Amino acid sequence: MQTHLRGRDLITLQEWTKDELDTLVDVAFELKRQRALGVAHPYLRDKVLAMLFFFSSTRTRASFEAGMAQLGGHAQFIESRSTQIAHGDTAKEIGEILGRYNDGIAIRQVDWEVGNAYIRDVADASRVPVLNMQDDLFHPHQALADLLTIIERFGDPRGRTVTVSWAYAASYQKPISVPQSLMLLLPRYGVNVRLVHPPEFALLPDLVEQAQDNARRARVGFEIMDDFEAGCRDTDVVYAKSWGALTTTTDAEEGARIIARYADWITDERRMAMANDDAIYMHPLPADRNVEVADAVIDGVRSVVYDQAENRLHGQKAVMALTMG
Ligand code: CP
Repeated sequence: MQTHLRGRDLITLQEWTKDELDTLVDVAFELKRQRALGVAHPYLRDKVLAMLFFFSSTRTRASFEAGMAQLGGHAQFIESRSTQIAHGDTAKEIGEILGRYNDGIAIRQVDWEVGNAYIRDVADASRVPVLNMQDDLFHPHQALADLLTIIERFGDPRGRTVTVSWAYAASYQKPISVPQSLMLLLPRYGVNVRLVHPPEFALLPDLVEQAQDNARRARVGFEIMDDFEAGCRDTDVVYAKSWGALTTTTDAEEGARIIARYADWITDERRMAMANDDAIYMHPLPADRNVEVADAVIDGVRSVVYDQAENRLHGQKAVMALTMG
C-alpha cells in the first residue's frame, strides 16, 4: 500500500501506480463502511474544494459536493459561464488564484482537444491538487467507481471479462472518456477486456496501445471487436454506452449521420441473455432509455447503475481525503 498521496493530482488513473490505486480502493471501501455505520469521518475539516464546470453534470457535482461536506469541508460550485474565463482568465490564472483560495481544484472540461490540456495547464500553475471531473479523454473518477462496483459484485475481479461496448444514442457526440479510462484501468486489475464498437468509433490509437500494454503486463486478454452480440456472449459485464465518432469526424452533422447507421446497437434482454448467468449491466448515466438500453435491462435485476452512481461518492471521498488532507 502506497500512502504518500498528499498533494497529488488525479488527472488519469494511468499516472498512479497499482499500489496507489489499491490504497484508493481500500480507503473508498473503508469510508463506505464508516458512512453505513454512521461514523463521522471529518478528515478534511475546514478544507475547501473548488469545482469548476464547463459542462453540465448531475452525479459528478452532487457526489463531489456531498463528499466534501461528509469529510468536514466545503465545495464551491463554479460554472465557467459565470466566471471571467470568457473575458480572459487563463488556465494559469485559474490554477494560481483558485489554488490560493482552496485546498483542491476539480474541473470538468470535455471539449474535444481542449479539456485534458486545459486541466493539465491549471495543474501546472496550481499549488493544490487538481482532480479531473471528466475531460475529452478521461473520466478517472467514473472508472474508479466502476472498479469498486465490479469488486463488490464479483469479489476478486481477476479472470473476469468486461465488455466495454459502444451503444447507439442520438442525442449528441458524447465524449470518449469513459471507455478510454475503463480499457486502461481494468486490465491492471486482472480483467479481460473486450472493446466493441463499429469501425468509425475507434478510440485514440496511442491509448489503445497503452491499454494493450497494460493487458500484456497483467497477462489478460484485450480484444477489439465490431460485433455487439459477439461481445455480449459469455461475458461477465456488459458495459455499453454511447460515444461520439470523434476520432473519425468532429463535425456534428457528419457524426450524427455515422451514429444513425447503428441504431440497432441497443442493450436489450435478448443480448443480456447471451452473457453469463451472473453477468451485470453497467452504465455511467445519463442513459438514453429505450434507445441506448431497454428499460427492462437498466431497471432489471442485473443492472448495477445505482451502485455505480453511489460509488462515485465513496471513491471520490477517498481521492480527496488522501490528496487534500
Ligand atoms: N456519470 C457522470 O459523470 O454523470 P454526470 O455527467 O451527471 O456528472
